[in-house]
Amino acid sequence: MMRNKMNQHAILMALFLVQINSAPLSTNSRWIVDSASGKRVKLACVNWPSHLEPMIAEGLDKKPIDDIIQKISGSGFNCVRFTWATYMFTRPDYGNLRVSESLDKYNLSAARAGIAKNNPQILSMTVVELHKAVVGELGKKKLMVVLDNHVSRPMWCCAGNDGNSFFGDAYFDPEEWLQGLAAVATAYKAFPQVVGLSLRNELRGGRENEPDWYKYMQEGANTVHEQNPNLLVIISGLYTATNLGYLKSKAFEVNLANKLVFEAHWYTFGIPDKAWTDQTNNLCATVTKRAQDNYLFLTSAKISFPLFLSEFGIDERGLSIADNRYITCFLAAVAEFDVDWALWSLQGSYILREGKVNLDESYGILDFDWDRLRNPGFVSRLRIVQQINQDFTSKIPTYYKMFHPLSGQCVQIVSNEMALANCKYASRWNQHRDDSPLKLEGAAGCLSVAGDGVSPRVSEDCSSKWKIVSSSALHLAAQDGKGEYLCLEVNASDSSVVAKKCLCVGNDLSNLRTCADNPQSQWFKLVPTNV
Ligand SMILES: *[C@@H]1O[C@H](CO)[C@@H](O)[C@H](O)[C@H]1NC(C)=O
Ligand SMILES: *[C@@H]1O[C@H](CO)[C@@H](O)[C@H](O)[C@H]1NC(C)=O
Repeated sequence: MMRNKMNQHAILMALFLVQINSAPLSTNSRWIVDSASGKRVKLACVNWPSHLEPMIAEGLDKKPIDDIIQKISGSGFNCVRFTWATYMFTRPDYGNLRVSESLDKYNLSAARAGIAKNNPQILSMTVVELHKAVVGELGKKKLMVVLDNHVSRPMWCCAGNDGNSFFGDAYFDPEEWLQGLAAVATAYKAFPQVVGLSLRNELRGGRENEPDWYKYMQEGANTVHEQNPNLLVIISGLYTATNLGYLKSKAFEVNLANKLVFEAHWYTFGIPDKAWTDQTNNLCATVTKRAQDNYLFLTSAKISFPLFLSEFGIDERGLSIADNRYITCFLAAVAEFDVDWALWSLQGSYILREGKVNLDESYGILDFDWDRLRNPGFVSRLRIVQQINQDFTSKIPTYYKMFHPLSGQCVQIVSNEMALANCKYASRWNQHRDDSPLKLEGAAGCLSVAGDGVSPRVSEDCSSKWKIVSSSALHLAAQDGKGEYLCLEVNASDSSVVAKKCLCVGNDLSNLRTCADNPQSQWFKLVPTNV
């Protein structure tokens, strides 16, 4: 009897847990929400590829799956964008291949030995069983999963002429693609951790055109929704997922009952280091404007769709000047718009990529041996965007965090002094208008300049009038006693916040055309927040 009661209790608890953890997601205006509670859910994902020739999730040769998943949650991600190739789910000679057979097919003996050591249970699984097993383990650890159709034929993505680029290419038969979408949407019905399906990664190449994009993406969206109406249906644009601007003139015509999400990728590929070093402020302004015109506009009140920035990333060794400058600019925009996102990428290495065995991935958060974070400082800079900053159901009025994207930290006022802290503990600023004082919320204090090289303080003196200057709109400046503009700046050696001469900005506040300084120590963004 007692045992029965306990069992009943356990069952009730389990039901309760399932209920709170498994409600499908849907959309409410520009936000992704839990469809049961209506509360915002923010996707803060990391990409994990499983779509290359062996069709095996990367890293299982290097570490036990639990260890990898622990590293994902431990780094603050709540979700994985997990890739798949169409053929895995449409062609038995691909999908039914056992992991051991797939490794042998490419003579991957070292990876096989690594898997035998770290994840022996997977060798006898088919690659599709493995795909499900990984999703299963992610769910056990309460991570959400977005399944991304990355390619048709399993291989590295995304050359313009690789046969996987656009509908009608050698390996990219639209009918087979639809079959694959239907198969995956169905196969994952019993997996509540699978919250969404990305229809196709980075469409591109000589064949791409808008009419086919509308035709096939609309068909794909309807197909997924018919098979599995719980899923978010995630649509990426043309030109390697960098442009959805054509939606301004022609709507995407589907009826998905609040499941439609758009997706874009934002890298700095193709912009040379020198362009960034010469014109850091201007280039940040240019690429942010382009992102607004091409995809961030979707989140505007008038249009109001969620946007999933499902790939961005940098060489985490810090070797690319362009990457280093771009990511600072990127973080300011993403913190402001508070969109959902997925970092490229988790993997420190690939089992087999482009013919190379055990290849290093410098964009991976994990190191080559999947032992530790390649660059812990970079991952900690993601903190503010891993948090929900704007919760549209919140009753707390909006205030502003003063975010310093170069450090990933925020300004916290301690005994009237400026300090850098985890953005969770950021001081709350009132909405600011140019040429007016910067005021702390709920306090009498204003921020006032005390002189060049000196830390501004909060006091009753509200005479400093602050202005957002430079084309990047990321410098906060006020005049000193002599009428010269000084900008807030973080001194990297002691993390103090001081007022200094504005970098790459003239005395009249005009932008310098070229500038040898890196102005990013002076970049601050007032991030709207209400949680
Ligand atoms: C694997 O090794 C065998 C024997 O050395 C060789 O014949 C075959 O071409 C190799 N296959 C690949 C994909 O490298
Ligand atoms: C940064 O702080 C250090 C230590 O307080 C100081 O020696 C240095 O001059 C400061 N750098 C700048 C550019 O103000």
